[in-house]
Amino acid sequence: MKIEETFQKRLQARHDELRWLYMELYGNSDMFAELCDQMYRFAVERAPEFQKLDGQREKDPKWFRKNDMLGMMLYIDNFAENLQGVKKKLDYLESCNVNYIHLMPFLESPKGRSDGGYAVADFRKVQPELGTMDDLVELAKACHKKNISLCMDFVMNHTSEDHEWAKRAKQKDGEYMSRYFFYDNPSIPQQFDQTVPQVFPTTAPGNFTYLNDIGYYVMTSFYPYQWDLNYQNPRVFNEMMYNFLFLANQGMDIIRIDAVPYIWKQLGTQCRNLQQVHTIVRMMRIISEIVCPGVLLLGEVVMAPEKVVPYFGTVEKPECHMLYNVTTMATTWHSVATRDIRLLKKQMDIVNSLPKDYLFLNYLRCHDDIGWGLDYPTLQQWGMDEVEHKRYLNRYFTGNEEHSESRGELYNDDPVTRDARFCGTTASMCGVESALFERNDEKLEHAVTLDLMLHAYMFTQSGIPMLYSGDEIGQLNDYTYKKDEDKCVDSRYIHRGKFQWDLSEKRTKKGTSQERIFKGLAALEKIRRTHSVFDSSANVYTYDVKDNSVLGILRENEEERFIGLFNFADYDRTAWMEEPGEFTNLLTGESVKVKDVLIPGHDFLWLSKQKKGNKKAQ
Ligand code: GLC
Repeated sequence: MKIEETFQKRLQARHDELRWLYMELYGNSDMFAELCDQMYRFAVERAPEFQKLDGQREKDPKWFRKNDMLGMMLYIDNFAENLQGVKKKLDYLESCNVNYIHLMPFLESPKGRSDGGYAVADFRKVQPELGTMDDLVELAKACHKKNISLCMDFVMNHTSEDHEWAKRAKQKDGEYMSRYFFYDNPSIPQQFDQTVPQVFPTTAPGNFTYLNDIGYYVMTSFYPYQWDLNYQNPRVFNEMMYNFLFLANQGMDIIRIDAVPYIWKQLGTQCRNLQQVHTIVRMMRIISEIVCPGVLLLGEVVMAPEKVVPYFGTVEKPECHMLYNVTTMATTWHSVATRDIRLLKKQMDIVNSLPKDYLFLNYLRCHDDIGWGLDYPTLQQWGMDEVEHKRYLNRYFTGNEEHSESRGELYNDDPVTRDARFCGTTASMCGVESALFERNDEKLEHAVTLDLMLHAYMFTQSGIPMLYSGDEIGQLNDYTYKKDEDKCVDSRYIHRGKFQWDLSEKRTKKGTSQERIFKGLAALEKIRRTHSVFDSSANVYTYDVKDNSVLGILRENEEERFIGLFNFADYDRTAWMEEPGEFTNLLTGESVKVKDVLIPGHDFLWLSKQKKGNKKAQ
């Protein structure tokens, strides 16, 4: 079928809902007609190889839900200088078993006012030091040859103050001012400030910035140089959708929609997660299904647990294909610091009870800080106070509690609420940094064990595991950002250091921490992709092993029964349980009786039993 026909078919199937949503939000049929025309243009301009992938993926809509999926997020410059460099390093990424790469923001962004690339000055231009759009397309094609999917950010909540629209708005051009939120006096900004919480209370306080030159206030929820876009203006929505489709057409497989809960603002509200946000995300889903159905939407929703799931939409009217499992991530670290898995078990039970269509991206660390977004009402029932507990976690992970070996720094320590978040790499948080500093082999051994246990636990969860570049070799905190005047105020740079290729060489040198982590992860990854019980279609439950420090997880499909046991305490614990028959320890191949299993401090076990009638050998 020709693309023109395919487009019409896809459009017809979805037109009524899209029109209905658009008219509900904007009531502007001319702008809707323009949107449809542009969608057609982007569909026919889409390169034939990407169209082919669209077709294949439409036939196999579960293509991204398989147990071989493993992601890695990386900064292009830290990892390989530029886009061409990344292309040259694809073999390394393959050796990490990665088949999904998230390139951190790389579009044009002003130096020193970029928020790590999240202040975009031009949605259609690559930051010159990193390469060109052609390099990006070449990289996408090279990835596809190796069956690797490519992901990029779509920063839709705001633009840089250097974006063309912002420049024109600064010249008081009304058309462009109406694409942002401008006020000529402080009255409305003050009203917003009464209900809108702050994102960066220390590094960028307030939600508005006063522009001295023109005497206006502009809304800036993030940094003062990131101007919030006004999605009440249909021109903003249309133009941003064209940017989105342009980027999709560069061969992207996954588009991460950045800070999506913030995109709709309304006076008297918190300006987060409003109903109109869901209307917009649903429209984006429909638009991509019409123009580029091979592209997935990954929502960045770093919100309270109950606010996250609605971004999947419903099974009939889906919004995002995937979401970050942010609550589980924060709860995991809480479990390390408290040696108590009760909250984690509860959180996993919630995730496991969701429809299987909902796919989470699991991770231990990413480029951002860890905000302690936990289920405080439950913790309160167990006698833990929110403010006190957050302080405890921050003391623990900065290494200021007696039994803590973690190293890292606070982030946005709010002087008013005394609320702070935390930054550090996985390895440093697990104690690798302090053990190496003290040259203490025993501690190092223990830290590596914890690091591997946490990864094994992440690989056991439902969904797609995502590694943070450098974690595969246990890269430590990087304190050099303190000497960089553009970065020194933002402690997130502590875990955004350059990838250390010299250290990565040690991954083949027996006995080094790099080797233990790299090899340990590779073994887990191999098991994960060769056992269908890790597929997202398997049933997953927690398993009560009657010890508050040991988390038990059961995965099951027609072929196999898998049990993962994870000891979050730094000393031996016993998982009190009894399972009939013999299990295999998947890492050692030994056969084990699963009865009252002893697990050393911070260690884990992956056990499995093939089901009767399943021909596969144990
Ligand atoms: C997202 C990014 C974060 C950035 C923010 C503003 O939360 O992950 O790094 O600061 O959006 O764009």
